[in-house]
Amino acid sequence: MNSTLHEDIEQVLITAPQIEAKVLELAARITHDYADQEVLMVSVLKGSFFFTADLMRAIKRPLVLDFMAISSYGESTTSSGVVRILKDLEENIGGRHVLVVEDIVDTGLTLGYLLKTLRLRQPASLRLCTLVDKPVRRILPIQVDYRGFEIEDRFVVGYGLDYAQNYRHLPYIGVLRPDRIAAIAARAVAS
Ligand code: PRP
Repeated sequence: MNSTLHEDIEQVLITAPQIEAKVLELAARITHDYADQEVLMVSVLKGSFFFTADLMRAIKRPLVLDFMAISSYGESTTSSGVVRILKDLEENIGGRHVLVVEDIVDTGLTLGYLLKTLRLRQPASLRLCTLVDKPVRRILPIQVDYRGFEIEDRFVVGYGLDYAQNYRHLPYIGVLRPDRIAAIAARAVAS
């Protein structure tokens, strides 16, 4: 593991080895549950790209990968629930076993919209796998079928998770220093 802590991180919440072990555990469950089925993995960009890459390599079933890119309207740090599809799927999901892969479920508004949209396309099954879940922040109830880590209401970055598009490259999931959040927000307003 990278033992050098980034200067903007106040605490490592989930280490790289903990993430690695959890990914293998989730992949084993998915491999078990999708016996005799092809998994159509839908990776929701951008945050889930590390998780997707590690998870899919540990799933021992036929698997097809596709990506969606979505964005919430508005500039706030929390989602509005009004979601715009920036890049749609290339695969037709009708009659197929779809597994949506997310980095984090927070208010549930983004996933609520996304799952509703995908359900209209009539997949044979539709499940959700998220690495991180913040249930205390939930506004819309979401069924999470595969959950990596349940965390409290801390602002976390790393392993794909960003703040203002930064910090995705950190190999662990860490808590961002509150003064850095304020400084980055102020810089964004000024530019
Ligand atoms: C994150 C995450 C979910 C959403 C969850 O994406 O990947 O899509 O927020 O938040 P919610 O439960 O409150 O709706 P983000 O908008 O940060 O985009 P990114 O994946 O490109 O970082």
